[in-house]
Amino acid sequence: MQRDDLVQEIKTLMDLVERNTTTLADSVMEIDVNEYTDSAQFEREKTALFRDYPQFVGPSCLIPKPGDYFAFDDTGIPILVVRAADGTLNAFVNICSHRGAPLTDCASGQARRGKMFSCPYHGWSYNLEGDLVGIPFGKEGFPGLDRSKLGLRKLQVEEKYGMIFVMPNPDLRFDIDEVLSGIQERVSGFGFEDHHYLGVKQVHTDFSWKLNMDTFHEFYHFEYLHPQSVGAMAYSNVANYKQYGRNHSLGSATLQINDLKQVPEQDWQPREYSSYVNYIFPNTVIFVVNDHFQTWRVYPISPDRSVVYHSMFIPQAPKDEAEQQAFEDYFQMINDIAVAEDYGLVDKVHRGLQSGLDRKVVIGRNEPGVQNMHRQIKEVLA
Ligand code: FES
Ligand SMILES: [Fe+2]
Repeated sequence: MQRDDLVQEIKTLMDLVERNTTTLADSVMEIDVNEYTDSAQFEREKTALFRDYPQFVGPSCLIPKPGDYFAFDDTGIPILVVRAADGTLNAFVNICSHRGAPLTDCASGQARRGKMFSCPYHGWSYNLEGDLVGIPFGKEGFPGLDRSKLGLRKLQVEEKYGMIFVMPNPDLRFDIDEVLSGIQERVSGFGFEDHHYLGVKQVHTDFSWKLNMDTFHEFYHFEYLHPQSVGAMAYSNVANYKQYGRNHSLGSATLQINDLKQVPEQDWQPREYSSYVNYIFPNTVIFVVNDHFQTWRVYPISPDRSVVYHSMFIPQAPKDEAEQQAFEDYFQMINDIAVAEDYGLVDKVHRGLQSGLDRKVVIGRNEPGVQNMHRQIKEVLA
C-alpha cells in the first residue's frame, strides 16, 4: 500500500469506529463440526491445499543473496528454494538422487561456499541449478551412470511483489497473479524485498490447522480474549475487510486512531494507527504492524495437530546487541500472546469439537474472514 491507500484506510477505519461497526458478510454461516474433525476430509485437504496448491514461502528478503536457501518439509514434499547466481530463484524437491537424503535441514542458510549443496549422507554434490556435479568414488562406484539425468527434481517457483511462492507437486503449474488475485495492492509497498529477517519460532499445537487459522481472521475476540494485550491496543470488532480471490485483508484501528482528527492530514503517520492481517490462502497470514511485518505459516500434521512458523522481519539489521535484544524480546512477547491466549483457548475449543456431539459452528456476519477461509476450502475440495 502506498501513502494514499494508507490514508484512505485510516479514513475508512475512523468511519467504522465512529459507527461502532465492522465490514459485514451477507449472512450468518454455519459449519458442520465434522469439517474440523473428519479424517477423510483432512486427507483431502492435505493433498488439495498443500501438496497440489501453490504455497507462500516467504518474502523475498528471506533469501536475499545468491546462495541463500530456505528448506521446509510441511506439505508432503520436501522443498528446497535457493537464490541462483543471477539473482533468480530455483526450487527443488529436497531429496538426493542417490538414496534420498535431504540435502539440507529445514531452515534458512547459505549454500556451501555460496555455490553448492553437498548431501550429508555420502557427499554427492549439486550446484545452485540442481545439477549433479560431484560423486565421491564415482568412477569406480558408479561407472556409466548418466549424471545429467540425476539432477535435483525441479519445482515451479515464482517471485513477484516481494513474495515467493512454490508449487510442491512437480507435475503441476500455477500463475502467480491468479494466486494473488489483487492482494498485492494491500501487501506491496511494505519493503518485503529489503527488510531484515530476524528469525522464526516454531510452535506445535494439539488442534486442527483450521482452528489455528480461524484465530487470525476476526478481531471480534480482542476485547474478551485479549483484554490486557491486543485488546488494550486495537479496537475490538472493527475491521476493514477486503477480499481478493481466495485471499483477504483485514485492516485494524489502534485505540488512538481518533487522535488523528487533531492532526493535519499531510502530517499523518498512518502505519502508527493501523495494522493489517493479510491472508494468503490457504495457510499464511502476513501481519503488517508499525514499522515491521511478521508471517505466520500454519501446516496440518493430523486432524488433531498442526505446526505454525512465526517469522519476524524488521526494517534494518539491528545496529547493536541491545537493539537486537529489544527486537528479540518484542518477537517473543508477540509469540507468547498467541500461544498463551489464543492457542490456550483454542486447545479447549478443540476438545469441545472432539466431543462427538453433532452440532454446528456459527460464524457471524462480523466474521467475514473466517467465512471466507471455510468457503474457499470447500470450493477447492469440491
Ligand atoms: S543419499 Fe545423498 S549422497 Fe547418498
Ligand atoms: Fe487473538
